[in-house]
Amino acid sequence: STEQALIRESWQKVSGNPLQHGIILFTRLFDLDPDLLSLFQYNCRQFSSPQECLSSPEFLDHIRKVMLVIDAAVTQLENLPCLEEYLCNLGKKHQAVGVKMDSFSAVGDCLLYMLEKCLGTAFSPDMREAWTRLYDAVVKAMSRGWEA
Ligand code: HEM
Repeated sequence: STEQALIRESWQKVSGNPLQHGIILFTRLFDLDPDLLSLFQYNCRQFSSPQECLSSPEFLDHIRKVMLVIDAAVTQLENLPCLEEYLCNLGKKHQAVGVKMDSFSAVGDCLLYMLEKCLGTAFSPDMREAWTRLYDAVVKAMSRGWEA
């Protein structure tokens, strides 16, 4: 469909350098909600600043993992249900580390922000709409792993 073509076209520009773009995404996330920093702890160590977090190898690995999940969703656009079980489990893992559903929507806003930064005026309203729909589907699947 056109929607899928718009997503693939825009992702192509980003996916060549996932780490760089993921850093833009998470820098924005910490700007909007600095409290999220405390959820990222490696070896029980708390980061003292977003800068410190954004330069730790473990956190950079998390950025790569996030970008890989998005990449998988783009690859499986026609067949998102095949990711359903994986995403449900991923949701469970995030609930266990203290992530709230609201924070996932904040990540979605930051994803749009990053795409806009990267694509400039080429990031059309139709593309924004298509990405919003895709990311919502990913979060919806992850939310199935959430227990009230
Ligand atoms: C793992 C936090 C959003 C994908 C983790 C871990 C933490 C974490 C603490 C475990 C340590 C690690 O692997 O680095 C968060 C927070 C988020 C967030 C606070 C948002 C506020 C996301 C999103 C995705 C994602 C949006 C993908 C769409 C992953 C993956 C793993 C992971 C793939 C590895 C899971 C595994 O080990 O099987 N996350 N995360 N995260 N996260 Fe996130």
